[in-house]
Amino acid sequence: MAVRFTDQAPRTLHYTQAYNDSNSDWEKLDPELDMKISEQTVEELAEIFRTPLTGTYNWDYQVQDDRIKKLYNLGKQLNWNADFDIDWKQEVRQLSEDEIAFVHPFHDYDEYLALSAQAQENFTKHMHTWTISQFLHGEQGALLVASQLISCAPTFNAKLYASSQAFDEARHVEVFNKYLDERAGLRYPVNNALKSLLDKILTDERWDLKFIGMQIVIEGLALSAFQAIKAITPDPSLSDLLGLVIRDESRHVTFGVNYLEEFIKTLTEEEKNERAMFAYEACLISRERLVPTDVFEYWGWNQDMARELFLKGNVFADFRKLLFTRVVPNLKRIGLLTPEARLKFEEMDILQYENMANDGDIDWADLSRPLDIKGSPEASSG
Ligand SMILES: [Fe+2]
Ligand SMILES: [Fe+2]
Repeated sequence: MAVRFTDQAPRTLHYTQAYNDSNSDWEKLDPELDMKISEQTVEELAEIFRTPLTGTYNWDYQVQDDRIKKLYNLGKQLNWNADFDIDWKQEVRQLSEDEIAFVHPFHDYDEYLALSAQAQENFTKHMHTWTISQFLHGEQGALLVASQLISCAPTFNAKLYASSQAFDEARHVEVFNKYLDERAGLRYPVNNALKSLLDKILTDERWDLKFIGMQIVIEGLALSAFQAIKAITPDPSLSDLLGLVIRDESRHVTFGVNYLEEFIKTLTEEEKNERAMFAYEACLISRERLVPTDVFEYWGWNQDMARELFLKGNVFADFRKLLFTRVVPNLKRIGLLTPEARLKFEEMDILQYENMANDGDIDWADLSRPLDIKGSPEASSG
């Protein structure tokens, strides 16, 4: 096992055979892009982070008959397996011109129009794989944070629940990685804004801050993002896998809201405001992490112009709205819309979502319904 340790995340793109296979001719890697592709190595690349984690044992093994216990039981029941429960051979539908115009923020941008038809297709693929790559990196972050929550959550039920979440996150990392390796063939490095948020959450010593950052902001955001992509993707396999991941994430966000609601009541006003401002900072970074600057850089586009165009596009505008309609009501529910935070959220133009539905009231029927599993043809015939 050759592990190479590094002090920062790599900036190179990772290609697999599937990228070649899904393109009809070798032009897929334009000559000028080809040069930037890194040599693939068999090494494991690991980046070190240090964390002053304060852990707890729990010695009374007190099983509270509460919502957290029920969520843990659902976690045990609703497992799925990426190898068998998803049909990976489904055909990707061709998008119509109208659909492309709707989802593609660059469809009438000069730099995009100047590309050959093949290169345009590749650019679109890069935008898509960038998005899914950030899902993958976010899921790894969730896996690492969930593992910390097992140690530092102070109650017995929460430790058990966090362990079921850690296994969910492992399956999410697995399934997005499989999609990128076997279907897309391309993986982008982690976006700087997402990485800085993960660094902050993983290296902070306060367990409740990890909960707020991960369960409320990152997962609330991820849930909306998964739903948005599921609604527009022409790939039925991606749609199916997102459906399964969304089921798990709904449980995670519900857990976060229910657990934090009780805990935050015990804090002083000053402590609450400190948490609220952390949540605000996390939202600000989260908005930034949606812009695919790495793709612009890779294709040699003018960063500022491409960014502006992207922010104005239909999908991003809808997406941003969706994103915060999940996070802001949950922050209100757990008691973190302090006066100072309200002003900040108003500046961000997202305070108006505060009274929308939150995840504190559990829809048990929805969380408990059986999984919608299609399965691979091989698995069902064998
Ligand atoms: Fe996840
Ligand atoms: Fe999660």
